[in-house]
Amino acid sequence: MSYAAMRSIGAYVPKRILSNQDLAAMVDTSDEWIVKRTGIQERRIAAQDETTSDMGAKAAQIAIERSGVNKSDIDMLICATISPDYFNMPSTATLIATKLGLGQISAFDISAACTGFVYVLSIAKAFIESGMKKNILIIGAEKLSAITDYSDRTTCILFGDGAGAAMICATNDASEAIRDVNTGSDGTYADLLMTPNGGSGSIHDSPERDKVFMQMKGNETFKVAVRTLTADVQELLHKNGVQTAQIKHFVPHQANYRIIKAVGDALGLDEAQVVLTVGKYGNTSGASIPMAINDIYESGRLAKGDLLLLDAFGGGLTWGSALLPFAGK
Ligand code: ACO
Repeated sequence: MSYAAMRSIGAYVPKRILSNQDLAAMVDTSDEWIVKRTGIQERRIAAQDETTSDMGAKAAQIAIERSGVNKSDIDMLICATISPDYFNMPSTATLIATKLGLGQISAFDISAACTGFVYVLSIAKAFIESGMKKNILIIGAEKLSAITDYSDRTTCILFGDGAGAAMICATNDASEAIRDVNTGSDGTYADLLMTPNGGSGSIHDSPERDKVFMQMKGNETFKVAVRTLTADVQELLHKNGVQTAQIKHFVPHQANYRIIKAVGDALGLDEAQVVLTVGKYGNTSGASIPMAINDIYESGRLAKGDLLLLDAFGGGLTWGSALLPFAGK
């Protein structure tokens, strides 16, 4: 059996910055409230004509170059997104594959909100370990600004745009292997975070039907998030006989600094182990974890062999965690 390894990472962020001050001019909020409750200072917003697949393709191009894998050897592309270019077809993955010139490879999207990247990692791992595929490009890409209601202060302060990508490749070297991935869901909490309109579940003659905006019960989500994220990671570490001290980088989904702090404290992690990008990028849903891994890579903090612990939580509800050494250069 071959193992699956994370061979490279890449990310793309749009140029335009939306600051807390900008938002305070749009809705009844303040920089002080946003920083205190979320840790977010600013987020990036894609240009009007810049799509999720444009951003995903840019992040993926970097990940391909860093991996050293030839484009012709990539045999699958999976994109995690809740803000696809089009509801519901074509998939963003097929558009990215074409933009990258990858030919007629297997390409599809998955929907697991902020847990999307952990889900695509688990799918890539399974395809490679089964021997069905060898080099899988996984992407988390979001243009959340397209599904954010900028008159709703409870959500518009949180979200931003961006993309991250990784090459997951077959290897015979067990020390490079993605060790384990946990994924779970609970639809009884579906109403905590949803885009209620636009789908077959929405009311056809509703005047709201075309407003495909995210809605969230933030405070309830917060409480479930802390509980679930902590329990999920504890189970994964226990199952794999890993102590928190062995983790080099804890890369949580970047939803809210207070959630990350509470989970980090509950797990007994040192501040230096916790990767934080929420202040500058806000919550980029499925893109947040690969963007955060790329952040430590580009700042020279991520080295080959470093043990990464990923942890995510999002709409669905969905959650997931992963334990893997970085296997790139
Ligand atoms: N500015 C000023 N006041 C605000 C704002 C704002 N932007 N938003 C809400 N308030 C007010 C509320 O109206 C409320 O006022 P009240 O006390 O008079 O009723 C007060 O602030 C407190 O509101 P809460 O919702 O209780 O604030 P909380 O401390 O919970 O923070 C937040 C809100 C930031 C949304 C937080 O609950 C959170 O981060 N939740 C989790 C989000 C998350 O993890 N989502 C999952 C991933 S996202 C995905 O999957 C796409």
